[in-house]
Amino acid sequence: MYVILLGPPGVGKGTQGVLLADAMGWQRVVTGDLLRAALDAGTPLGHQAQPFMNAGELVPDPLIVEMVKEKLTALSTGTNILFDGFPRTEAQASAFSMMLQALGFAIDHVVVLEASDEVLIERVAGRRFCPSCGAVYSTVLDPSQTEGVCDNDGSRLVHRTDDTAATVQNRLEVYRRETEPLIAYYEYGRPTVHRVQGEQGVEEVQSEVRQVLGLGV
Ligand code: AP5
Repeated sequence: MYVILLGPPGVGKGTQGVLLADAMGWQRVVTGDLLRAALDAGTPLGHQAQPFMNAGELVPDPLIVEMVKEKLTALSTGTNILFDGFPRTEAQASAFSMMLQALGFAIDHVVVLEASDEVLIERVAGRRFCPSCGAVYSTVLDPSQTEGVCDNDGSRLVHRTDDTAATVQNRLEVYRRETEPLIAYYEYGRPTVHRVQGEQGVEEVQSEVRQVLGLGV
C-alpha cells in the first residue's frame, strides 16, 4: 500500500508515521528528514536547501523531486511505503504520479491530519529533538526523563532551527497556500482521501488512521 500523510507543521505526521511504520513494518519516505540529513552531511543539496528551510519556505520542486526519485530507486518498490511531507505542491504531486506510474504503482490513500493553528503553534514550541538519534519529544506531552537530555543516548536535546515563532507562522501560511490545495487535487483522483482530527491524543489519532486505512485498530 502507498500512503501519503498530509498536514500542517506540528500536526503529528512524524509521530503517527513512526508508530504506523513500526507496527506494520512499512518503509517511510520523509522529505524533511532527508533534507535535514543532507544538511548535516554538508552535501550540495543540503547547502541549497538550508536557506529555504530556515525561512520556512518550500525547497524548490526540482530538488525535491530528484531527491525522492533517488530514494524510491534505493527502496525495494512493491513494499508498503508511507510518504510524509511529500508531495507539498501540485508540481510535486504530478511529478510523483508520473514517477509511480513508471514503476507500475499508484497512491492508494491520502490521510490528512488536521488541527487548529493555536494547537500547532503550541506543539511546535514544545517540540525537542535529539540531534544524534533523531528521537522527538514534547515538553508537554512526552518529556524526556531528564529535562533537555535524550533518554536513548544522553545527548542534549535541541529545538529545530525552523521551529521559531516567526518561521512557524510562515510555514503555516505556506502550507495553506501551497499544500492544502492538494487535498482537492487528490479528491478528484484515484486515491481515497481521509480527514483525521489530529487534536486528539496520539493513540486516538493512530487508531483512526488505522481504521481509515482498513488496518483494524
Ligand atoms: P518537515 O520536517 O516535513 O516539517 P513539517 O511538515 O513542517 O512538519 P513537522 O515535522 O514540523 O511536524 P509533524 O507534523 O511531523 O509533527 P510531529 O509529529 O513532529 O519539513 C521541514 C522543512 O523542510 C519545510 O519547511 C521545507 O522547507 C522543507 N521541506 C520538506 N519537505 C518538502 C517538500 N516536499 N517540498 C519542499 N520543501 C520541503 O509533532 C510535533 C510535536 O507535537 C512533537 O513534539 C510531538 O511530540 C507533538 N505531538 C504529536 N502528536 C501529538 C498529539 N496527538 N497530541 C499532543 N502532542 C502531539
